Amino acid sequence: MTTEALPAPFRLIAYETIDSTNDELKRLAREGAGEGLVITAARQTAGRGRRGRSWIAPPGNLYTSILLRPLCRAATAAQLGFVSALAVADAIGELAPTVGVLCKWPNDVLANGKKVCGILLETEMVTGDRPDFVISGIGINLVSSPRDTPYQATSLAEEGAPRITAAAMNVALIRHFAGWLAIWQQGGFAPIREAWLARAAGLGEPIQVRLERDTLHGRFVDLDNDGALLLDMPSGSRRVAAGEVFPVAA
Ligand code: BTN
Repeated sequence: MTTEALPAPFRLIAYETIDSTNDELKRLAREGAGEGLVITAARQTAGRGRRGRSWIAPPGNLYTSILLRPLCRAATAAQLGFVSALAVADAIGELAPTVGVLCKWPNDVLANGKKVCGILLETEMVTGDRPDFVISGIGINLVSSPRDTPYQATSLAEEGAPRITAAAMNVALIRHFAGWLAIWQQGGFAPIREAWLARAAGLGEPIQVRLERDTLHGRFVDLDNDGALLLDMPSGSRRVAAGEVFPVAA
């Protein structure tokens, strides 16, 4: 991986192969690693996605995890998923400017309407409601994308972007992450929410949201101050804190 400097306090440990960059960073965090440690791997043998899914991790794509130790409540720390998505959107916008980038609730990033990035935010608590640490694990499909997914997936190469190395994408990503993190630390969720909504996929459109046991149909009208999705349904307005969004076929 590159030796190009990351902005303080970020610093990199790059592995050739690891089980999961999130799992390795979790081990290091439990041993006391400080905020800003970034782990990348060229390959993951047990990459993990949200909802217990695996994240297939062939070489060429970016697999990176960022360690944070925010001094806030767990619900507030969940906003770091939106901070991460904005950083990914800006890094792709910088390195692949011909690709149309949007953020998909809660934490995905789309390239020309297809999933190009997934974010797995994991929080470990100490006592009460205060996180000991938060890990933002980010996978960006640079050269290949999985088949047989419940959503349409793509890679930047498949969308016609010039070749981008994982190292170059990681440096751009961490630079943008540092910028959005500072905005969040100084201004709270309001500026993050506003920036995310300006890049939101499906805003104002009919969507379906799959919950654990139910599927909701309605119009995606807003994000609330905690990052929950607000859905206009025939039965009234509904706040959705967790779920998976799918477009409604035209
Ligand atoms: C999702 O399901 O959309 C989230 C995918 C997150 C994948 C990344 S790859 C780097 C980090 N390490 C992991 O094991 N998972 C995350």
